[in-house]
Amino acid sequence: MEKDIFISFSNKDISIVREIVRALEECGVTCWFQEDDSKGDFAEHISRGIKDTQGMAVFISSNSIPSIMVKNEIVMGIQHHELDASYHVLPVILSGTEENELFPILPLIAAINRIYYDNYKNSHNLALSILNQLDINPSENGALGSTYTASVENEQKRLISQSIILDRQIRPVFDSLFRENREMNILDVGCANGMAISRKTEGRPYRTMLGVDKNERLISDACRKFGNDRNTFLTADPMEQSGAEAIAEYMKRQGITGFDMIHISYVLLHLGDPREMLHAAKQLLKEGGTIVVQDVDDGANYHYPESRYLEDCYRIWAHCNDTGDRNMGRKIPGLLDQEGFRNIQVVSSSVTSLDENGHPDNNLWNMYFNTALWMGSEPADFNDARAMTWLENCRQKHQEEQSRYLEGNLFINLGCVLVTARN
Ligand SMILES: C[S@@+](CC[C@H](N)C(=O)[O-])C[C@H]1O[C@@H](n2cnc3c(N)ncnc32)[C@H](O)[C@@H]1O
Repeated sequence: MEKDIFISFSNKDISIVREIVRALEECGVTCWFQEDDSKGDFAEHISRGIKDTQGMAVFISSNSIPSIMVKNEIVMGIQHHELDASYHVLPVILSGTEENELFPILPLIAAINRIYYDNYKNSHNLALSILNQLDINPSENGALGSTYTASVENEQKRLISQSIILDRQIRPVFDSLFRENREMNILDVGCANGMAISRKTEGRPYRTMLGVDKNERLISDACRKFGNDRNTFLTADPMEQSGAEAIAEYMKRQGITGFDMIHISYVLLHLGDPREMLHAAKQLLKEGGTIVVQDVDDGANYHYPESRYLEDCYRIWAHCNDTGDRNMGRKIPGLLDQEGFRNIQVVSSSVTSLDENGHPDNNLWNMYFNTALWMGSEPADFNDARAMTWLENCRQKHQEEQSRYLEGNLFINLGCVLVTARN
């Protein structure tokens, strides 16, 4: 197969379709998308495109319904399904398309299951549903450990609260590292939009800081907001050759042979092979340099007094397709050891709901327990059908539990492991 999904659409819907295609690609699949793959409407080229994919998503709107090309593509897709039953055609009804507008196309799509753009809270969730309906599994394509993306709006807001909480945990470690060496060259792996590492390094003495992330859109935000003469952000995956080369080129420009500190926060849980990332990091760390890794471990979550709401939250995360390995924290020391790091120290293994003044920290609540994160969640987002029942319970209890928490009547401990080691 050359690509995973054939995209059929009207050019008038290009901007919304392009956004959904990007979301599909972030889930780890490739799309036969005319914008990228063919500049002309050549039937033979399109027919080959259909045959070389695993399924077709057709974007239906008042623009695409009159299109002969789109109708032809649906017909070719259905014919292909008759030859190969695992090939599916999925109509995706775009916003603002009335049911009665579908009449001209109904003879073609009436017998096929269809989904509605408006039923999804964002393009990422729609993309997951498209993959589910087409029975295409990104992990079979070897692309990702989890279907996580940081580029949806709610996740960006959540990351602000997470960075404030993780900051609290890491501050003493950073205080001592920045005191030891005031001229550090720092690498932050999986920096997302650069906000977390910029908060952690703000006001501290260092020589350079490089943030890398595989998500191009987040890196362009990071460059705009936090790029300056010391801070650089690059689209790069250190495990890929192209990413390693981009980092090597940066190091050459800076005249350095290794980083003094490498920071990897809440990234390993999303990787199919976290050891490979630590291996890549070890090559980039200077001899005597320090690696600082933070990651989640839900095994250390507890609270007092009892809360069915919190128990359901933990179950939801455990069965969500984009929350990664929720027990990554406990694996870090062993993984670092296997990769040959020395002086491995578990500095801390949890954060609590109480801030420096002993008050319930609103950021800890917003890091994980904000219902906005779950609004519009679909069964396709989970690998356990019971998740929708747990979600319903959480939605009903949310207000009451949030008040209990903010009034200081609910203590929460969250597993978050912070490990340092030397090269
Ligand atoms: C949960 S976010 C963590 C962001 C930030 N480090 C923090 O602590 O808030 C994970 C980030 O890792 C990035 N990421 C995941 N796999 C990656 C890889 N192989 N190479 C580079 N970045 C990766 C994702 O794109 C995402 O922005």
